[in-house]
Amino acid sequence: MIFTVAIDGPAAAGKGTIGRAVAARFGFAHLDTGLLYRAVGAKGGDPVAAAEGLATADLERDGLRTLAAGQAASRVAAIPQVRAALVEFQRRFARREGGAVLDGRDIGTVICPEAEVKLYVTASAEVRAHRRWLEVGGDESAVLAEVHERDARDMGRADAPLRAAEGAVVLDTSAMGIEEAVGRAIAVVLERMEGR
Ligand code: C5P
Repeated sequence: MIFTVAIDGPAAAGKGTIGRAVAARFGFAHLDTGLLYRAVGAKGGDPVAAAEGLATADLERDGLRTLAAGQAASRVAAIPQVRAALVEFQRRFARREGGAVLDGRDIGTVICPEAEVKLYVTASAEVRAHRRWLEVGGDESAVLAEVHERDARDMGRADAPLRAAEGAVVLDTSAMGIEEAVGRAIAVVLERMEGR
């Protein structure tokens, strides 16, 4: 069975948690596509060469989850040749046999517009910054500034800017606990499966 769940949205909206839970519930493979850009940013040197030569080991290195790695990722993600180098791998993953969940910024818009389910997971910048701050600590206002900066770069870039795909179900998790958000996402998938 080919069945793709495309989850897009800004940083710290809950995409990863929802993506992992949906994949576990349906036995689908899961790809956190942000990790690809984080790995390219962390490799250093020429980002295009880094993207073209990206290997599994690059995705396993330490430090990819830090705020600095997120900023580096969003800078290299604005380079069209970097995005182009990563398209084919993501498309193949999306249409693999057995079902797939991908979360990122352009999954429903560019990588897999034909996805059976498209979700746009969002939350207010303040709520997202607070969640991120609970994970990383430090100065909460600096984390909020970081969230605003990354939103502006991801939504404002010319190539594959972050936006809700046509036909996406919007899930605003600002006032939702994780269980509710996951429950809603699973309900959307079940509804789509039943309608097939
Ligand atoms: O989701 P995550 O915070 O790990 O993503 C890091 C950065 O990678 C994002 O801020 C964004 O610039 C970029 N990205 C992207 N397209 C994706 C996934 C991530 O441009 N599909």
